[in-house]
Amino acid sequence: MNVESTDVLIIGSGIAGLMTAECLRSHKNVTIVTKSSFRSSNSYLAQGGIAAVTETEDHWAEHFMDTVTAGSFHNEETLSEILVKEGTEMIRQLEEWNVPFDRNKDGSLTLGREGGHRRSRIIHAGGDRTGSRIIDTLYKRIAGHVTMKEYEIAGDLIIKQGRCAGAWTKNSEGEITIYFASTIILACGGAAGLYSVHSNDRSISGDSIALAYRAGAVLSDLEFIQFHPTMLFKKGVSYGLVSEAVRGEGGRLVTSEGAPVMSGVHELGDLAPRDVVSRTIFGFIQKGEDIFLDVSKVKNFTNRFPSITSQCKKADVVLKEGKIPVAPGAHFTMGGTVTNQWGETTVPCLYAVGEASRTGVHGANRLASNSLLEGVVFAKRTASRILESKDHEVSIYPVEWGFPTQKQKKLPEKIEIQRQMTQYAGIVRTGKDLDKALRWFRRFSIDKPDYYSTPDEIERMNMLQTGWLIISSAQMRTESRGGHYRSDYPTKNDNDWLKKQIYRKKDWNE
Ligand code: SIN
Repeated sequence: MNVESTDVLIIGSGIAGLMTAECLRSHKNVTIVTKSSFRSSNSYLAQGGIAAVTETEDHWAEHFMDTVTAGSFHNEETLSEILVKEGTEMIRQLEEWNVPFDRNKDGSLTLGREGGHRRSRIIHAGGDRTGSRIIDTLYKRIAGHVTMKEYEIAGDLIIKQGRCAGAWTKNSEGEITIYFASTIILACGGAAGLYSVHSNDRSISGDSIALAYRAGAVLSDLEFIQFHPTMLFKKGVSYGLVSEAVRGEGGRLVTSEGAPVMSGVHELGDLAPRDVVSRTIFGFIQKGEDIFLDVSKVKNFTNRFPSITSQCKKADVVLKEGKIPVAPGAHFTMGGTVTNQWGETTVPCLYAVGEASRTGVHGANRLASNSLLEGVVFAKRTASRILESKDHEVSIYPVEWGFPTQKQKKLPEKIEIQRQMTQYAGIVRTGKDLDKALRWFRRFSIDKPDYYSTPDEIERMNMLQTGWLIISSAQMRTESRGGHYRSDYPTKNDNDWLKKQIYRKKDWNE
């Protein structure tokens, strides 16, 4: 067992983790641990772009209204206002660092449009390679200035004397490292990987939620899972995301007969908020219809969307025929570990950023391309709070280690957990189905990650715990709002349900 100490321990290497590291690296000793490779993150895969107000005809108040309307008015308004106001400055910062954003001939930023936005304000890079361009830029800035550890999964946070004091990790050889730190930051994403069809990096398995829950942090809004309307989906196999930006450039959702899917459903048509479009497509699929994205009117498709072009090649989809087969897939977790506007969780010295956090800026359904924005805006704020806080000492505590005295229950395979989530807690939910799922999840009474010997087992245990939390939350919310739709309670109920659901640690399978 290794023991290390660092000022700041960041768990996760997406945009929010790297941005926080960048803002802290000149002042603090920073260590980043990530359970896969550095480039394995949702941020790296992000296609569409980053939404922000950058031209004079646009205004933060318009971006704010689009954000809270898509969020079904479940948003934390003060934080949503911060997001859109400070977003503009963060884009300038990224430009200064030479993120190669796409530009028009006159040098101005090329702006795209996506679902829920009433105007074009999506900044992109490399066509549909925005995430990787930003991550590569940040990576170059921090390389050599922070300690980076790949292929180490965090097993648990260490809580001592009422504060978070570090975390232990396990690598693929089963070696344990205990990190003591004065500040710990959860930046390891959400939980959309718990579903059978999803757009996430394969490393995403609800780890941040499970870690925070076991540490006693307050969590909220876990029932709100966003399903992206258009995964490239052919003969039961998913080939990754087809960005909403394709619809922003004229792509249209159609049936196999060419009938428009979204006409008469929402005033924004194909660019309605994601929850609306996904449910509509899901309804067609339930009736046995195949749905396609008609891209015949999209100009210059292969240049504008190089990643999607290669995904189509992999799936043997002939772009010249103009029709990409699509289906919805789990994409984003609106809930997570509750933070304030400075990234602070309810556990002293523990912070959360990016999709791991529940800042409340996304409400019940995130507006397109607001996730990279949240990552950079709140990472910067979190770093500034850490820099101005009175330093806690890095304390090294005696290590107590509980090795199993008896064989633990066998964990279900990842694919089985995903099947349960998809079947019973997917795009359309019912109380009966959620009950069935809860009964299944309750069969696995495990919450001691140190009893499990491989990273894969820790990951599956986190999936079980996070799945149980999502399902319990979905069962409690007896209304439909944003990414949570109950066919037994199909309408919004503002009288009872504008309040937030809050969870603290209890016996998870009680
Ligand atoms: C997309 O390109 O459609 C996804 C971007 C996002 O999740 O906001």
